[in-house]
Amino acid sequence: MSEKVIHIRPVLLLVDDDAEIRDQMKWALASDYQLLEAPDRPTALARVRDAMPRLILLDLGLPPDIDGASEGLAILRETLRLNPMAKVIVITGNSDRAKAVAAIESGAYDFIEKPVQLDVLKIVLQRAAYLSNLEQDNRVFQERAGQNEFEGIVGSSAPIQTVFDMIRRVGPSDVPVLITGESGTGKELVAQAIHRQSARKGEPFVAINCGAIPETLLESELFGYEKGAFTGAAQQRKGRIEGAQHGTLFLDEIGDIPLGLQVKLLRFLQDHTIQRLGAKETLAVDARILAATNVDLKKAISEGRFREDLYYRLCVVTIAVPALSERGADITLLARTFLTKCAEDQKKPLKGFTPEALEALIAHPWPGNVRELENKVKRAVLMAEGKYVTPSNLGFAEADQAGDKATLRASREQRERDLVRLAMEKTGGNISRAATELGISRPTLYQLLARYGMKKEKPMEEKAGGGV
Ligand SMILES: Nc1ncnc2c1ncn2[C@@H]1O[C@H](COP(=O)(O)OP(=O)(O)OP(=O)(O)O)[C@@H](O)[C@H]1O
Ligand SMILES: [Mg+2]
Repeated sequence: MSEKVIHIRPVLLLVDDDAEIRDQMKWALASDYQLLEAPDRPTALARVRDAMPRLILLDLGLPPDIDGASEGLAILRETLRLNPMAKVIVITGNSDRAKAVAAIESGAYDFIEKPVQLDVLKIVLQRAAYLSNLEQDNRVFQERAGQNEFEGIVGSSAPIQTVFDMIRRVGPSDVPVLITGESGTGKELVAQAIHRQSARKGEPFVAINCGAIPETLLESELFGYEKGAFTGAAQQRKGRIEGAQHGTLFLDEIGDIPLGLQVKLLRFLQDHTIQRLGAKETLAVDARILAATNVDLKKAISEGRFREDLYYRLCVVTIAVPALSERGADITLLARTFLTKCAEDQKKPLKGFTPEALEALIAHPWPGNVRELENKVKRAVLMAEGKYVTPSNLGFAEADQAGDKATLRASREQRERDLVRLAMEKTGGNISRAATELGISRPTLYQLLARYGMKKEKPMEEKAGGGV
């Protein structure tokens, strides 16, 4: 089926008390515009309210103030109040400069002098229509693509928009989702967003970091236990899985779950039941499972550290959260967002970043991703003294200096090594003479020889020696 392109003529409202002039214009413009007419202010404003015309041709001198401009200017102001995007073209007498200026000041798009030349009018209208379309498109675009944030996740780059789309799509279902990505990319935020996009959003979101809990505790933490299940189990305790009843269970760092527990978890994923430690009966738990990992689970599988069957249960849908360095302009967008927030928290009147600071932000490789960026900006807001954050506030200049220091040390060591080798060669390996030659003590020479791998056994009595 082919789609028809429907050309919609823009709506143009003609406001003039002279019916003859209106007819003349209608004749000239009807093929390009859908025309509406009004002879006075009440009719004009009624048309504006009903039809929201984007283009208006307005004669300023209307009854009861035919020789003045009060009626026309009142229509202009009210029209722009109702629809700020309207393009109003005012028609004035050729000796009415002051009125034209007043109209432009009040927001008219342009003015045309009487007697109206139709070819000029057509061009002015065409341009106004074009601009109006552009503004309209722009606004739609901004509302759609210019969305800089979704469920607390800041970003407008294509890779993060793909993540937003995935969250919107899988959110409402109950399928398990595996969230992968480097450390600090926002995997937990993605998990929370999925939960909030689901019908479970009013129910608990329970997160457990499988890597942070000692192996011995993880099982009872996840599954809970009955009184007396093990020494120290003084009373019954519910586990995190049970805590997520009707809600979402987020298993962070899933790659760190020990193999034994993986079996138990798999059982839960298969039949949605659990058994508390030491319990005889099973419990049905309705919880949606989200998991996150920053390690390569396929590799873990090949190394026998992760069960393949569990992996396939978890990764029904995988959302790969991109590294910050792949998100282009999101870097500065995120930096500005964090800056505004931190400046507010710390009550500092900061205006933004210097251009150099922005350049440094863009050039940085961000191995620690969004978390690193957030921390750097926090630090910068603390350090900033002026109105703008500089590269050194962010710690970038300092890093460079540290780099210089490192090369300085390396070259000094190289020179030291050369001098020691030379002295040893010259003296035929005689420690005392080489030390004298170098102007250092013998114990120091031994230290240098050891450091640079030119080892010569040190005599016992010299081992307690001092430095230079
Ligand atoms: N797109 C984003 N917009 C706003 N804040 C973000 C965004 N991504 C991450 N953050 C913030 O960065 C920090 C790290 O995010 P999060 O803890 O979700 O990362 P992670 O991928 O789970 O990291 P890890 O693998 O180290 O656990 C949090 O403070 C989070 O709020
Ligand atoms: Mg995390």
